[in-house]
Amino acid sequence: VHAPVTQVLPIHVTNQKQLLLYEQVAASVAALIEDGVLRAGERAPSLRRICDRHGVSMATAVQAFMQLESRGFLESRPRSGYYVKARPPGRVEAVASPAPSIPMAGRLATLHASLFEAATLPGIVPLGGAVPSAEMLPTVRLNRLLAARARTAGKRGVAYDLPPGSETLRREIAKRMAEAGVAIAPNQILTTCGATEALMLCLRAVTERGDAVAVESPTYFGILHLLEELGLEAVEVPMDPRDGMDLTALEKVLRRRPLAACISIPSFSNPLGSLMPEENKRRLVALLAARRIPLIEDDVFGELHFTASRPRAAKSFDDDGGVLYCGSFSKSLAPGYRVGWVAPGRYAERVRALKLTHTLATATLPELAVADFLAHGGYAHYLRSARSRYAANVARVSEAVTKIFPDGTQVSRPQGGFVLWVTLPAEVDAIEVYDRALAKGVSFAPGHMFSLRQAHRNCLRISCGEPWSPRLQEAIAVIGQLAKRLVSKR
Ligand SMILES: Cc1ncc(COP(=O)(O)O)c(C=O)c1O
Repeated sequence: VHAPVTQVLPIHVTNQKQLLLYEQVAASVAALIEDGVLRAGERAPSLRRICDRHGVSMATAVQAFMQLESRGFLESRPRSGYYVKARPPGRVEAVASPAPSIPMAGRLATLHASLFEAATLPGIVPLGGAVPSAEMLPTVRLNRLLAARARTAGKRGVAYDLPPGSETLRREIAKRMAEAGVAIAPNQILTTCGATEALMLCLRAVTERGDAVAVESPTYFGILHLLEELGLEAVEVPMDPRDGMDLTALEKVLRRRPLAACISIPSFSNPLGSLMPEENKRRLVALLAARRIPLIEDDVFGELHFTASRPRAAKSFDDDGGVLYCGSFSKSLAPGYRVGWVAPGRYAERVRALKLTHTLATATLPELAVADFLAHGGYAHYLRSARSRYAANVARVSEAVTKIFPDGTQVSRPQGGFVLWVTLPAEVDAIEVYDRALAKGVSFAPGHMFSLRQAHRNCLRISCGEPWSPRLQEAIAVIGQLAKRLVSKR
């Protein structure tokens, strides 16, 4: 027996207007389309699913779909069913009240999100995130290894790889760390979901809410966000553009106040590209060890050196386990695989316990694919070519900036990595350049993001993670010309 075509019993009251049952079903499918859950060209849920999900008869489902068709949301294709129309009507939004002004700390979070969002928009040249473009990575080979692992790993591929994570990978990591002068056993390493998780675990292991932590200034904004998130105070230590953290300034801080930890990116700082000389690394480790203050070393760029050899890690000077070393394959292999690691020294037990509560395990298949790439995928060969390509990109961008940007602009001389730090004439506010550049389809990271004290307002960071091209040249010209215009306005 068929239900009547028009059901008159409204179940829900929506928007103060009573809707017929088929209208309610139609409204819920329309909402999925308006919210982008169902995309243009995608197959609509089957009528049978609609009946099951909404507890309605087939006749009601059919009527709902007919309404969606007449309202321009769906089209029916002969013998194939219903599909979302190429251009379904958009949602009619209420007129927005003017956006409230965002305080600077909130603005940082917005900028952080917008940099990553910009990278996914088709019309934008994304020079904001320090993210290597897929062309610079061994994308095809790595994905092939992942697919091969997925075919052969069987049960292991879908099981948790509980801390400390894949042993094969940890052995390969231990070999890489030996190149940085760190003699370490695989059982002293723990795999993580990128360096972000490694840094978070280290901070949680050695600090408590309200503690003060010394950071470089400028430093990677992800570190500043972690500190904010954990309720920690960032004590900013100035940087030397070539040698990294100013140790005399750090000593002054140490004399003045207690610190729970110090975070440094000694090899190829993000954003400066500076390289702390070995002697300074030794001194930094000793200064902190003398006070039992842990050093969290972020070494995500260490293997991307333009120098003849891979620099030693600060961890190589650690003899009491006070250095917590964080690494990642995000810069060298695949940011989306989310494979990183931590060698937490004397804090190993605490970090391991936190890893369990934080994310339980690192994803198994990406770990195994990375291990395969390190063991027999030609990692060393790939790194050699990546280093020279990044060095060339950085040199080209730097040359363009020097030619195009306003007089008085200074450009960093990175010794590794792929970001460039540009200091504009003091009167230019990089946020003003940023807002205008974004409107013209170019993003970069304004200096404001690299300090919580607004210390680098006239600076900006440009990522050189994609190969040089006319599009890139144009994007640099857009930023330079906007900066010039702002100089001449003052
Ligand atoms: C210095 C530094 N540390 C850590 C990270 C985060 O790395 P991951 O993607 O491995 O979490 C980044 C990413 O840009 C970075 O530049």
